[in-house]
Amino acid sequence: MANHARAIKTIGILTSGGDCSGLNAVIRAVVCRAIEFHGWRVLGIRQGTMGLMRRPVEFEELGMRIVTSNILRMGGTILGTTNKGDPFAFPMPDGSLRDRSDELIEGYRQLGLDALIGIGGDGSFAILRRLAAQGGFNLVGIPKTIDNDVGATENSIGFQSAVAVATEALDRLQPTAASHDRVMILEVMGRDAGHIALTAGIAGGADVILIPEIDYTLESIAAHIAKVRERGRNFALVVVAESVKDTLGQKVHRRHGGGGTTYGGIGHRLGEEIAAMTGAETRVTVLGHVQRGGEPNPIDRLIGSVFGVHAVDLVAAGRFDRMVAWQNREVVDVPLADAIAAPQQVDPDGALVRTARGLDISFGDG
Ligand code: F6P
Repeated sequence: MANHARAIKTIGILTSGGDCSGLNAVIRAVVCRAIEFHGWRVLGIRQGTMGLMRRPVEFEELGMRIVTSNILRMGGTILGTTNKGDPFAFPMPDGSLRDRSDELIEGYRQLGLDALIGIGGDGSFAILRRLAAQGGFNLVGIPKTIDNDVGATENSIGFQSAVAVATEALDRLQPTAASHDRVMILEVMGRDAGHIALTAGIAGGADVILIPEIDYTLESIAAHIAKVRERGRNFALVVVAESVKDTLGQKVHRRHGGGGTTYGGIGHRLGEEIAAMTGAETRVTVLGHVQRGGEPNPIDRLIGSVFGVHAVDLVAAGRFDRMVAWQNREVVDVPLADAIAAPQQVDPDGALVRTARGLDISFGDG
């Protein structure tokens, strides 16, 4: 991977992939460290890599006004982002796919950047690394995703805030479930990992947690709900991760207006089947993008700030093709290749699954 030894004067920053809470805290920290301590210019690129593809290149110079503003507390990303449009296979209006990577690299050159800080998940990092190799530019990555599936880091920006939202949803579902003697099913995001479901499920007192990493049967879920009833409780809380398979072994997808397909719908399928099998009245809540928006919680603000400062210092030290990471209560950095080698799923034998089982929470596999 290229490492241009010239002195750093100007860096670019972009947010890529799905947004989440805490991105602005990262941007703020990068701007502060780069300008105040290193005397560099910071150019914020609009809409992820898309901004470098457009002409004129879409960017704004970020100044210390960013640091003194209120963005630490703000959800979303002030730079905008996209989770569509792979520049190596960019969808054109005629339906064809075109490699537009050269245009994007040319955009990087036009800005006179000496390095780029990319805030993204594994998909974005794979694209950015390829671009960096092809264009010979210097790249440092900062992990973000509510799914927390980036490897080599215990925390990605946005995960903790999403967990807080999902936990609050369970807190709100519990009293209404108890009032109506209902089984409440909460479908949460997480792509192919069950981290949000598992973490919020424990924190929010779920009875059943269904994650893609552990296979379930309806019979086992029904038996657990029966046990809950025998103990005198008239309601139950079930959390299901969006990529859990249905009883036919299929992942459930939803096609969206305007394009795009995501996971979604397993909650409603399970709700019907649990009702049929247990006789319980069920209601389903699909939390959706509520998990991505809103103010970042304190941990995301904190780790975002730590990551931003460390990423700038990696650039200053000429240590590129690396990703900042959170390990054992410390910020560290790891090769980007290691971080994206494999998605980080829930360890079915890990501490959180063991804890849940110790609390008699069912994974539907008993
Ligand atoms: O990767 C983040 C995530 O929120 C996933 O949990 C979810 O499956 C997906 O993005 C939703 O994507 P979109 O923003 O395109 O609806």
